[in-house]
Amino acid sequence: MTVLERVSGSLAVGGVPLDRAFAALQRLEPSAHGCYVYDLEQLEGRARRFRAAFAPLGAFSAFAFKANSLPAILECLRRSGMGGEAGSLGELELAEAAGFGPGDRLLNGNGRTLEEAEWVAGHGVHSVNADHVGELDLLQRAADREGRTVRVALRVNPGIVTSGHHYVATGREDAKFGVAPEEALAAWSARTRWPALQVDGVHIHVGSQLLDVGPLEQAVDTALSLADESQHRGAPLSLVNLGGGFGIDYSGGAGEFPLEDYAGRLARRVEARHGPEWVFEPGRWLTAPVGLLLCEVLWIKRRGGLRFVVLAAGMNDLLRPALYHARHRIVPVRPRPGPEEPATVVGPVCESADVFAEGEPLPPLEPGDLVALLDAGAYGATMASNYNGRGRLAELVVDRGRLTRARAGETPADLAARRREDVLEV
Ligand SMILES: Cc1ncc(COP(=O)(O)O)c(C=O)c1O
Repeated sequence: MTVLERVSGSLAVGGVPLDRAFAALQRLEPSAHGCYVYDLEQLEGRARRFRAAFAPLGAFSAFAFKANSLPAILECLRRSGMGGEAGSLGELELAEAAGFGPGDRLLNGNGRTLEEAEWVAGHGVHSVNADHVGELDLLQRAADREGRTVRVALRVNPGIVTSGHHYVATGREDAKFGVAPEEALAAWSARTRWPALQVDGVHIHVGSQLLDVGPLEQAVDTALSLADESQHRGAPLSLVNLGGGFGIDYSGGAGEFPLEDYAGRLARRVEARHGPEWVFEPGRWLTAPVGLLLCEVLWIKRRGGLRFVVLAAGMNDLLRPALYHARHRIVPVRPRPGPEEPATVVGPVCESADVFAEGEPLPPLEPGDLVALLDAGAYGATMASNYNGRGRLAELVVDRGRLTRARAGETPADLAARRREDVLEV
């Protein structure tokens, strides 16, 4: 997916050679061994394409911050006309700080807290997706105290099976998300119980990294039949939120989710119906291909016929391979001449799961070489941790040839800074 570009023999992002970008970062952070790099111009192009696909539906598209919450990325998406989808109090704060107004941000999450309910009632949101009917009481109290109306869509578990990794299938019946369709219908019919809420929406998010339209079309079927049934019971719905899930082709081929095809079919299908406001929550599709993880090769080790390439980045920096057995293409920034040979590419974390690839055909590599793990702009930096006492990496953005450090890497001193010895009165 990431468009491979070379400038003077170096892999480049937005016209900036990555070896020079890394050297520039090391002048600010001498102990940096890796960083994320994103291309904002490419991101704008993808946001434009996403919005154009769903324009005939007049849809509201809110970027899922869980995919990437770097403020520079959020601000770029906001300027490109996207809304923001938050999944926590922290992401709501990020949305506000990035300039998403009350009508441009929505809240998800299956563990609603009082603080989140108070935040949405006090600051305002487009809508909240409630994962639980009991949550409506919490939202009602908060909205009532503020004298505000909060719009709510009920997240329905549609019992839709998707392909791909179990952990990203959220619509199956045994998944933790959503309420049963019958429970949602009962709540819509009883909505006068929550006078400070506008409970008029359905939300379905069936999973992530979907590559065919089947499960999303099933989600549309479920949403529309629930809307029909609710109308029949005297409680018409005016908001249909179909979540995200649009996948990309991590192998670099043309197998990404057929966005325009799906949007076109949906527009034709709902032409005859007047009414609901459509909402989408894309994450991965927007940012995965515009980012990569750049890092040094630390060591080359040969054992039992295997060539181990030990990278400076590990599973704490990019968790997807260890968590989902996901594969990211690995590309040397300046390939050395010589034949490709299989490599087991690993990180430095003290875990056997810290493996990025096995049998990966790669040209000769030496310690100090730079490699890029492609399509790492979604669920990369946001899932990073301090495991093994490792600081999270710096994040750089390129905008039309201009390189900026948009987030500093964490140092050992940063990790030590939260040390306390607070005696707590009990
Ligand atoms: C409720 C919800 N909406 C949107 C998304 C974004 O999904 P994706 O990045 O696959 O588009 C997710 C991610 O899992 C989600 O849980």
